[in-house]
Amino acid sequence: MPSARPTFDLVVAANRLPVDKVVTETGETEWRRSPGGLVTAMESVMRAQPGAWVGWAGDAGDAPEPFEEDGIHLEPVPLSAAEVRDFYEGFSNDTLWPIYHDVIVPARFHRDWWASYQTVNRRFAEAVAEVAAPGATVWVQDYQLQLVPALVRELRPDVRIGWFDHIPFPPVELFAQLPWRAQLLEGLLGADFLGFQRQADARNFVRACRQLLGAATKGDRVAVDHERQVRAAAIPISVDFRGLEALAKRPDVRARAKEIRASLGDPKVLMLGVDRLDYTKGIRHRLKAYEELLLEGRISPPDVTFVQVATPSRERVEAYRLLRTEIEQTVGRINGDLGHIGAPAVHYLHHSYPREEMAALFQAADVMLVTPLRDGMNLVAKEYVTCRYDLGGALVLSEFTGAWHELHQSFACNPHDIEGLKQAILRAMNTPAKDKQRIMRALRRRVSDNDVQRWASRYLAALAAAPERPAPDRYA
Ligand code: ADP
Ligand code: G6P
Repeated sequence: MPSARPTFDLVVAANRLPVDKVVTETGETEWRRSPGGLVTAMESVMRAQPGAWVGWAGDAGDAPEPFEEDGIHLEPVPLSAAEVRDFYEGFSNDTLWPIYHDVIVPARFHRDWWASYQTVNRRFAEAVAEVAAPGATVWVQDYQLQLVPALVRELRPDVRIGWFDHIPFPPVELFAQLPWRAQLLEGLLGADFLGFQRQADARNFVRACRQLLGAATKGDRVAVDHERQVRAAAIPISVDFRGLEALAKRPDVRARAKEIRASLGDPKVLMLGVDRLDYTKGIRHRLKAYEELLLEGRISPPDVTFVQVATPSRERVEAYRLLRTEIEQTVGRINGDLGHIGAPAVHYLHHSYPREEMAALFQAADVMLVTPLRDGMNLVAKEYVTCRYDLGGALVLSEFTGAWHELHQSFACNPHDIEGLKQAILRAMNTPAKDKQRIMRALRRRVSDNDVQRWASRYLAALAAAPERPAPDRYA
């Protein structure tokens, strides 16, 4: 029997839907925006064109019926409680995430987590195959779904398949630790085109195919067999520059920015950190540098204050639980030792906020601290400069983010080098306003010229142009 379901020419598959189902204490169902940069970017892309989004609604158990949200057709995929534990918290975020982020914490390998990853990837592929129109474009997202490209190819050889890696792709020396490394590469090679944040990520992937699969490679291409080749290239993701800038210019948002500063006692310098509470983000290093600057008397509250907004994330994974405890103890200690009545040294907020509030915070902040130890892109850095249409503010940016490769003019830092990080913070505070404006103008131009709409059209054009068959003798 043919399915009565609607089908779509563009189908995005991501572990998360753009909205999360939350059941409140009174038993009512609410939909909230899902956390993370993937959703921020893909949501603005999908609002602008017709298509379906296949993903998990964020709670365990049966999936809700498909529904429309802001013009996007959403196709929920169910995860059982055991799959949330094994596929999502386990394999995705306790095996792959650490390996793909320089093993900042040790990766854990469990065969039953891998079994769950395979099962859930197959379920996603089946859901995609159901809603893809003949000859559709299927765009798979991120590390949670690396087996989906090959599984979709098996089920639907008529569709064109792309995959985009929102996080780093690790050097082969780290990737090789994965007991299932060959299966992951083969899963990805089911795609026609693979997109990465940085050239180094694309190169790491090509090298892994050569060394671990013995695949023939040439430049940015990997030969799968005599029939097919796959291109792996960098197309860095971005933000909705025009949409976010318009939000930042709204009178209510500007008024809120002033109100935030006033409620903090109108400090001379307001520093801001905005991150998911993740060990990749370098929040500990940032706090350490700030604490030392306070201890050395180079800055002092209430003249200088620091607001750290940390979105709750992956709270049942042990490494995240430990991080939360450590950050909260550190903030408590710094405030206990160095704060004053009415003037804490660090304002720590463990919440998610609406986009308007984030835009106001960005406008209120004189120094934005983006200090990850490793980050695929870091959209917060791009959002900050987007909101600074007034050319105010200064961005301190880690060299270990994808964003740094585009935003070179920022105040660069190596977060492992606490002395260097302190210097970068002081430079960001003390550089003359005129010079900071010049820097901000250059950063804004870069993001405005390479916004998320341009990213999506570059990606989809590369996918459409992906080679079907290798020319003879093109591979070493
Ligand atoms: P990641 O995807 O690793 O979380 P990014 O910096 O790329 O990191 O993206 C984070 C996204 O989440 C940004 O769009 C940012 O504005 C948003 N965000 C981060 N913290 C909060 C928060 N507390 N409330 C609302 N949005 C947040
Ligand atoms: C990063 C990942 C996304 C993920 C997001 C939030 O941006 O690249 O795939 O959705 O973090 O993490 P979570 O585990 O809450 O989905």
